[in-house]
Amino acid sequence: MTNDPSRLVLVASNRGPVSFAFAEDGSLTASRGGGGMVSGVMSGLAAIACDVEVLWLCTALSDADREAARRGDRVVEPGDAPVRMLDIPSDMFSAAYNGIANSVLWFVHHLLFDTPNQPRFGPEFRRDWSCYMAYNAAFADALAQECTAGTRVLIQDYHLALAPRLLRERRPSARIAHFEHTPWAPPDYYRLLPDDIAVAILDGMLGADHAGFLAGRWAAAFLDCCEAVLGARVTRGAGGAGQVRYRGRTTEVGVHPLGVDGTALRARGRQPDVSMHADALAAMAHGRQLIVRVDRTELSKNIVRGLAAYRELLLTRPGWRGRVLHLAFAYPSRSELAEYREYTARVHELATGINAEFATPDWEPLVLDVKDDYARSLAACRIADVLLVNPLRDGMNLVAEEGPILSERGCALVLSREAGAAALIGDEALLINPYDVTATAEALHAALSMPAAERRRRAAMIAATASGRAPARWLTEQLDALG
Ligand code: G6P
Repeated sequence: MTNDPSRLVLVASNRGPVSFAFAEDGSLTASRGGGGMVSGVMSGLAAIACDVEVLWLCTALSDADREAARRGDRVVEPGDAPVRMLDIPSDMFSAAYNGIANSVLWFVHHLLFDTPNQPRFGPEFRRDWSCYMAYNAAFADALAQECTAGTRVLIQDYHLALAPRLLRERRPSARIAHFEHTPWAPPDYYRLLPDDIAVAILDGMLGADHAGFLAGRWAAAFLDCCEAVLGARVTRGAGGAGQVRYRGRTTEVGVHPLGVDGTALRARGRQPDVSMHADALAAMAHGRQLIVRVDRTELSKNIVRGLAAYRELLLTRPGWRGRVLHLAFAYPSRSELAEYREYTARVHELATGINAEFATPDWEPLVLDVKDDYARSLAACRIADVLLVNPLRDGMNLVAEEGPILSERGCALVLSREAGAAALIGDEALLINPYDVTATAEALHAALSMPAAERRRRAAMIAATASGRAPARWLTEQLDALG
């Protein structure tokens, strides 16, 4: 461990940068953890590695992870941050992660509840909530153990909304930042939560010195909630940022859009495994224009309406039949939740229906693939003519930035105005209301019809803007905000 505590940066997140599996001989093998939050933090840390020393605390998510946690093995791979996995009892973890983080907080911030029926906060919710509190307390205890005067602590996401306050109680002088990678709900929707829980979450986050968001809209909504729910004194600054004065402390609220390290991503996109997939996908397209989407199958990603829009395009603009192929990569996510399983089934049903309705002997209009394959996703972005990113609501949505960076010919981006990325790169995209299937079909038509030079110009502008916001800048801004 470092001798200079001010160089030490602690990162805390539910999912960590590594996950373990048991090999056949019972030994543990490590691989990199996935997801936008993890890759953003990892890439930011790698870029500032010579200025700081890092320890990353995360949850042991599987039995193999728990075994690694018990062995107390910290170091992962050369060059990577050491990781300490917390061995949280699996029942407690499941209640906190599935019961609260994914089924309540995710739904609130993405405005996803089917409100005539859900949510219903009863005894089961209260049991899950007590686990969520214990899970956050376990993180606060572990962080307090690692923290000395001057240490900076970066706590990630809605899984750990209570941890800043709990750590503050244990280490009053700690320098704490919380970063929320999702949107934030406006007060009227946020207040679906039971009153005491609505207070506890805001109060938990306000234990931090700095609360960061990906877009001005999400930061502004957080400030609105602090004012409406807590009665806190709120000062609003430019672009959604501001300050909250509450319980004798001030929390700075900052807006830090996350971009992409364009140079590193392009280099990865030129690797042989990606080129092999690009050749195979191009052969499949057979000279037809390619509409690509790459998502985890999450309720917020709006894959169902995306497919409906493609169907409407083929119905209302029959000239595209036989001249276009839609590659939809929809990777599995959170299959522990019934809503996600049902949603995935609907995606499959719709895809099968589109092929049954429009396929001809020499043309299949849609390829839906659910096998998570990073190299193939990069390949699809490389050769896409149109990229469809139509979430109902999304913190940022990095694919919208990665696609144009990787694109060889320049792709047209059809982008939901409800994605945080719209604030950063929306000027060069075809913006849509994600609920409007007809408008999405029309935007797909406009994107397919866009002259090649215009596509190239727009993709280059998006790539430049996204690269200017590389993760190193995103992370440095947050560290600087802690002084
Ligand atoms: C998305 C969100 C992140 C979140 C992650 C969790 O990527 O944008 O804010 O941390 O989901 O995913 P998980 O698979 O760990 O539930």
